[in-house]
Amino acid sequence: MKWALALIPAILITTGAQAQDGAAVFERCAACHTATGAGVPGAFPPLNRDVRTLAARPEGRRYLALVVMVGLIGPLQVEGQTFRNVMPAQSGLDAAAVAAVLNHVGTRISHDGPPFRAFSAAEVAGYAADPGKMGPADLAALHARLAP
Ligand code: HEC
Repeated sequence: MKWALALIPAILITTGAQAQDGAAVFERCAACHTATGAGVPGAFPPLNRDVRTLAARPEGRRYLALVVMVGLIGPLQVEGQTFRNVMPAQSGLDAAAVAAVLNHVGTRISHDGPPFRAFSAAEVAGYAADPGKMGPADLAALHARLAP
């Protein structure tokens, strides 16, 4: 069992570092979505129930990762509100940073909806390598199919 005990601090450090990175990356998201993720009515959608609901479905997970990397052009219906705005692609984030920020949103920002399953960098890298010609408007159309 000695080896297992030796692993625990390493796991805690790794998890802590990822949570930390996610919080740091989220600062740029907060400029629009606000620090609590509540959003701004009519301008920036809340990051709450819709995010967790999408993260529970395979196509929703792809959508969430691609929104961060590709951007999004609505109209978009979130929690009963319509948004007709533009989210620019968040440049300069590698797959690990995208996974970290989504995990921060899923665990620290979103409170409602189903339990959140974490993204790995490998999962995000897979979506990045095969975006399926999804542009910002295609992602809004995908959202309409997934969460009408
Ligand atoms: C410049 C403002 C801006 C920034 C910065 C920004 N977003 Fe957005 N985001 C938007 C807008 C606007 C929308 C909705 C697009 C629309 O109205 O068509 C959106 C939509 C989303 C959605 C879709 C929500 C849903 O329920 O389908 C997610 C997820 C998201 N943003 C996550 C993020 C994350 C994570 C970051 C930081 C890495 C981020 N955003 C940074 C403006 C922004």
